[in-house]
Amino acid sequence: MHNEIDNALLLRLNDHFADQLGLHFPVNRIQEFKRNFKQVAKEFGMELSSCAIWLLNGPLTQDQINVIAYHYTIGETYFFRDPKVFEVLEDELRWLISRRRRNNSKYLHLWSAGCCTGEEPYSLAMMLKRILPDIDTWHISIVGTDINPEFLKKAKKGIYGAWSFRILPSVVRDKFFKDVGAGKYELGPEIRNMVQFTIGNLAETKMPQGIVPGSIDIIMCRNVLIYFHQDQITKVLSKLNSALTDDGLLVVTPIELLGIADKLFERLSYPGVAVLKKAKRPAPFPVGGAPSTVHHNALGMDSDRLEIDLLNSGAAYQFPVPATAVPPPLAMPEPLMSVSAAVGEAAKMTAPDAELAKTAQRFFEQGRYKECVAQLLNVNPSQMAEPARVTMLALAYSNDGDLPAAMTWIDKAIGHDKLNHSLYYIKATILQAQGKIADAIAALRQALFLAPEFVVAEFNLASLLFQTGKSAEAAKRFRNTLKVLKQYNENDILPESEGITAGRLTKIIEALLAEAS
Ligand SMILES: C[S@@+](CC[C@H](N)C(=O)[O-])C[C@H]1O[C@@H](n2cnc3c(N)ncnc32)[C@H](O)[C@@H]1O
Repeated sequence: MHNEIDNALLLRLNDHFADQLGLHFPVNRIQEFKRNFKQVAKEFGMELSSCAIWLLNGPLTQDQINVIAYHYTIGETYFFRDPKVFEVLEDELRWLISRRRRNNSKYLHLWSAGCCTGEEPYSLAMMLKRILPDIDTWHISIVGTDINPEFLKKAKKGIYGAWSFRILPSVVRDKFFKDVGAGKYELGPEIRNMVQFTIGNLAETKMPQGIVPGSIDIIMCRNVLIYFHQDQITKVLSKLNSALTDDGLLVVTPIELLGIADKLFERLSYPGVAVLKKAKRPAPFPVGGAPSTVHHNALGMDSDRLEIDLLNSGAAYQFPVPATAVPPPLAMPEPLMSVSAAVGEAAKMTAPDAELAKTAQRFFEQGRYKECVAQLLNVNPSQMAEPARVTMLALAYSNDGDLPAAMTWIDKAIGHDKLNHSLYYIKATILQAQGKIADAIAALRQALFLAPEFVVAEFNLASLLFQTGKSAEAAKRFRNTLKVLKQYNENDILPESEGITAGRLTKIIEALLAEAS
């Protein structure tokens, strides 16, 4: 049986899927696209070319989407993924709850868009259960939507294995889940019944069932838009925006902010966490590099929030204090983001028989930073080269939020390898997270001195200069970044950016420059 497909047809299909589902495969990943498509055609019992022509023949039907989503989507998620995000959400929710209590309007509407197998919306439900002692008197709706019906089936079942609990303390797990044997745990009905799951394709304009325009307080749409095509991102943002209440919030990941050079949202100033507020009027600057829109008093707090905090005084809860400066998107010290290449390098310097070192790396990759640190502190020099060990320690401490320790170790790493531009870049991200912007700028300058075409560092430096009012140098640096970007193909993934293409960064900078002028 002849079962091949012409390249032009494959590319047309790639565009069609990007348009209908948001799934975007850059040209350099076309072989991966083809591998997945072979599975799709097999499931439909068709040859590749005839299957492609059939799928290209108009808008995809729900049955077609189900099969395609099954083979193309990635189901990586876990409970309380990125604890910093949930801390911020808790802060925002407590604030909203206080306001609603005062107005005697006890309702909350949350949406997890691209919820995968349900860990994200169930984490929201568990959090609300904890912070709302009178939850039974509230009307709460939490809707989880996804394009992949298989993921939703699993979400509705509510049975999970160890991988989903990788950062959840066992006391929390045991409070809400029942051990059903074979390493599996079943979520109890009190949390399960708080979440409704429904199929929803973010790339279509229609709202999913259960989502009323203008009614949603908080949308989580994390790790979904990152590989969407820019045109699709714009459409999805407009849809999410129209689902929100007037002061509703959208939570994405910092790296996804790069796609959101958009006037529909303003960024709130939480370092390392990308929370966007529906804009009442056009934002003064696109969100990717925007100055904070939250006004802080001498205590570093939003004054409205402080008032509520005082009203609630007596409650043990401490509001996290938002920082005054918003770090630019690429330099967010997100786990395994701009620094993952450094971890890969560090791992290469591990001796082949070094079990402790390999375990440390596995812990790092699973986000178990405390355990990673414990292992690394026990690894001896025959198992792992010292520069690699200290670099990984710096990264693990940084991702675990212990920034002073991260600084100590990154300085040690630099002591071992003074000419390594990546180490200065990591140092800059740590300094930036500490709010030491002038020092972060100095570290970025050092990185660029050693590697003048280090494009991500150049972009970050330009963003920081912009934030600190040095607009002329910032503009020069942004233009310089554009020049360096020309050396790349549009779809090339930029070094140490974890997935940002040259084309996307170019568009963002062009938008920033246009807006600034
Ligand atoms: C990596 S998971 C992220 C899960 C969760 N939001 C998190 O951050 O842990 C991405 C999810 O997006 C879903 N997805 C991809 N394209 C989508 C689309 N067009 N509409 C809705 N969901 C989509 C996938 O099926 C997958 O479940």
